[in-house]
Amino acid sequence: MIKTIATTPYDDQKPGTSGLRKKVPVFQQKNYAENFIQAIFDSLEGFAGETLVIGGDGRFYNREVIQIAIKMAAANGFGRVLVGRGGILSTPAASNIIRKYKAFGGIVLSASHNPGGPTEDFGIKYNIGNGGPAPEKITDAIYARTKVIDSYKIADVEDINLDNEGAQDVAGMSVTVIDPVTDYAALMEELFDFAAIRSLISSGFNVVFDAMSAVTGPYAKEIIENRLGAPKGSVLNFVPLPDFGGHHPDPNLVHARALYDQMMADDAPDFGAASDGDGDRNLIIGKGIFVTPSDSLALLAANAHLAPGYSAGLAGIARSMPTSGAADRVAEKLGIKLYETPTGWKFFGNLLDAGLATICGEESAGTGSNHVREKDGLWAVLLWLNILAVRKESVIDIVHSHWATYGRNYYSRHDYEEVDSAAANGLVTALRDQLATLPGKSFGALKVVAADDFAYHDPVDGSVSKNQGIRILFEGGSRVVFRLSGTGTSGATLRVYIERFEPDTSRHGIETQAALADLIAVADEIAGIRSRTGRDAPSVIT
Ligand code: G1P
Ligand code: ZN
Repeated sequence: MIKTIATTPYDDQKPGTSGLRKKVPVFQQKNYAENFIQAIFDSLEGFAGETLVIGGDGRFYNREVIQIAIKMAAANGFGRVLVGRGGILSTPAASNIIRKYKAFGGIVLSASHNPGGPTEDFGIKYNIGNGGPAPEKITDAIYARTKVIDSYKIADVEDINLDNEGAQDVAGMSVTVIDPVTDYAALMEELFDFAAIRSLISSGFNVVFDAMSAVTGPYAKEIIENRLGAPKGSVLNFVPLPDFGGHHPDPNLVHARALYDQMMADDAPDFGAASDGDGDRNLIIGKGIFVTPSDSLALLAANAHLAPGYSAGLAGIARSMPTSGAADRVAEKLGIKLYETPTGWKFFGNLLDAGLATICGEESAGTGSNHVREKDGLWAVLLWLNILAVRKESVIDIVHSHWATYGRNYYSRHDYEEVDSAAANGLVTALRDQLATLPGKSFGALKVVAADDFAYHDPVDGSVSKNQGIRILFEGGSRVVFRLSGTGTSGATLRVYIERFEPDTSRHGIETQAALADLIAVADEIAGIRSRTGRDAPSVIT
């Protein structure tokens, strides 16, 4: 029943910021998914008889790869697979299941916020036993294995029934189909004061959550409508669709524009939120105010003690390097450490495991805590609701008083998508060449005080990750950061992160792009964005 199939390597299976992401037709090539999954198993040791968690965000090709992964897990000697009903598990829910059931690891099928469908994106990610993304030493081993792989093992059995909960036998391995939502909802009830949120909502506080036709639909329906009592219809686009209804399931101001417009109207609900394809990102918009992810991280950290799960306070805060320094000021006031990591959630795992950080976040709409080892979109929404239920102030008032206390970090990210790869690499190389000579130079009123290519020294395992983004720091704390995306599937995406700290409350009401205009111009002057990419403007501004 177990077959060993001969195969030949593909040379493009290098995992990026968050697993292997490619277009669906790439994954549909003969043995493409099989090679990668076998390379994962070949890079691991000691899983005989252990549990593997498998689930995905429901995008096109999800079910097919879930069948393959289960049959290969059986053939490779796992003792048990836990799989979400219908092949569905949000990324944070998968992380929770791995931890709760002490699984050896998990395979999460997702391309996150990237579009889905027959010609769109698909992805495979391996998570380790702590529930978090595999660290670089494992992803490097997987990649090395993909380059020499010559066979894979698979159980030659009928397709597994993924739609009925319960256990079944697959070639001597047990497969249990579980409800994707139950364990996750139970964890949220432990962390947050559901009674307080329920009474806020029953007092007429209006919540709207856009699941963007992606995986959080069933989770948000159960938690926000069924358990917290929000009226039916509060959760929008709650049916996960293989192509996300043709949209980018990316909760930002471009792709969640309708929600933004609704929240800026005179009759806006009190609180609006959205999550992405696999449920790990969040968008938070109060009536009349978009909360930047960097500000949201700082605000959540400053107020987390108001939720039962964090009443003992925070051990530390971690943020990715391009994320604004707003959280740093909160850490300073709380007298706790702030850790600055490279982009990508995998760098938070060690800090969380070691108890050094409690809350983590990225400017890319990812926030989370030590409750799992992934960022968690609904968690951020519920922590916000818990804070609002206790403070009984509006989102806009809470944000404004936060700025008054800590100062405001004006912040924006400009993305140039699907740029020619050679041009993008040339731009980065040219920036690197300027690093030594930039400090001391002035551009108008802006004087460069330091410039480097960010390197991270992991305080827990001592590993060093180099070339994680070019930072140009100006006098007064403003900065511009440049890096190339590690999650795109066509061409290159240049990300430019722009930040200015403004302590003066009387200057907190400026439109963000206007507040950053001089830095934006200097970024172009230094990097030659327009001339090198041929683009007049970013594709996406967040
Ligand atoms: C992007 C974000 C990063 C996030 C990752 C996975 O990676 O910038 O913060 O962790 O997606 O959601 P990038 O495309 O920039 O490499
Ligand atoms: Zn995601």
